[in-house]
Amino acid sequence: MARRGTSFNCQNCGAVYQRWQGRCDACGEWSTIVEEGAAPPLPGGGRSLSGRAKGRVFALESMKGETRDSPRTLSGMAELDRVTGGGFVRGSVLLIGGDPGIGKSTLLTQACAALARAGQRVVYVSGEEAVAQVRLRAERLGLADAPVELAAETNVEDIIATLSQSGAPALVVIDSIQTMWTGDVESAPGTVTQVRGSAQALIRFAKTSGACLILVGHVTKDGQIAGPRVVEHMVDAVISFEGEGGHAFRVLRAQKNRFGPTDEIGVFEMTGRGLAEVANPSALFLAGRDLTAPGAAVFAGMEGTRPVLVEIQALVAPTALGTPRRAVVGWDPSRLAMVLAVLETHGGLRLSGHDVYLNVAGGLRVQEPAADLAVAAALVSSMTGAVLPADAVVFGEIALSGAVRPVSLTGARIKEAAKLGFERVVAPASADTADMRGIRLTVTPHVAELVASIAASAPKRQRKPTDSDVER
Ligand code: TYD
Ligand code: MG
Repeated sequence: MARRGTSFNCQNCGAVYQRWQGRCDACGEWSTIVEEGAAPPLPGGGRSLSGRAKGRVFALESMKGETRDSPRTLSGMAELDRVTGGGFVRGSVLLIGGDPGIGKSTLLTQACAALARAGQRVVYVSGEEAVAQVRLRAERLGLADAPVELAAETNVEDIIATLSQSGAPALVVIDSIQTMWTGDVESAPGTVTQVRGSAQALIRFAKTSGACLILVGHVTKDGQIAGPRVVEHMVDAVISFEGEGGHAFRVLRAQKNRFGPTDEIGVFEMTGRGLAEVANPSALFLAGRDLTAPGAAVFAGMEGTRPVLVEIQALVAPTALGTPRRAVVGWDPSRLAMVLAVLETHGGLRLSGHDVYLNVAGGLRVQEPAADLAVAAALVSSMTGAVLPADAVVFGEIALSGAVRPVSLTGARIKEAAKLGFERVVAPASADTADMRGIRLTVTPHVAELVASIAASAPKRQRKPTDSDVER
């Protein structure tokens, strides 16, 4: 049981419990519940509700009224501005989450420098690194001359006092929120209570001063320090910085944004001199493609308003185990299970005796159902040994009946494919396919037709998985 005044808080999602338990019911994480001291401070300055006899009367306003566009400050990095929805909004708070070492500090150092060079006042507060380390990184990035004001501080009250002293800055970066602590709360730094208390104080400062505040939050798996989910609901925008280990690509993705779209991505490449913006991600994701191997299909996808072409790779191999393996990188495993079931039931493929591996090349995470048909094409290609045409892109959503359904923004997908020199599109028919820009459309209304057309082009003699794999 908790002693008086203490509670057990999940360090991942912030759920509060009366007693300790091994697994958090709210987020499902194990070993993330920790006993903490004082209760979290009340929003709005920590005044006790019971101490107030009467409430203050305030004026209610109408929905119609003077509306001004929120003033925005462009960071000067096009990919970052695309994700924020057109620049930083005054008085807004952004949370940038990501695994340690993914490049959050690098990205923000570059954004700060660009903004400072454009004449804005920018303050970068590091709670993790000494000023000398931050300087070293700036030197490595070739940005040491940018007039960014640096500090290595962790106490929120000190930071706010310093920032309030001389005119509010345009941008304040706190790297990271998990290292901050406030004297108002009696908990160790890094715990849910501290992270929440510090974030509240800093957010209050941003709202009153008009400075844009960026909080860095480490995504943690082990629950030793509180995760960014604890502050997600308090901020205006949540942006995640993702990348696969071993790949140089980094994808910036908005998960919540009160001032802009949430489906835009920004693509960067980590180089020896910092993050380089990638204006044409399709060309990058398709670079180094093997055009002669079976099991690869090019998917014409959309990331927000931008079409992105990626290669989907599949490997279907006879299994040596009782239960065949299914491994997926960059796509939803349950979606793969569905496509496999449809191919088996309506496409006549026998996949239950095969291991299936699926990979989205380049480290991108595809989230659209439109990738179904490309995944199916890659799977059939790998299984039959038939190489798909190198100049074809594939997209379409597969229904449980085996029918292929049209997807949104077909026109934009075709345009991007044409731009990159593709000449064929394998997709369901849709109203958007009127303007084909010289591209040949292979209408595929059902997965059975996809299987038949790919199997027909399979090499006749050295067919590896033999005729018995395709029943018809
Ligand atoms: P960093 O921004 O410190 O990551 P985070 O703040 O998310 O923990 O960057 C970490 C990695 O980036 C580090 O392993 C080195 C690499 N890096 C480069 O490859 N090039 C560079 O110019 C810089 C500054 C870092
Ligand atoms: Mg860092």
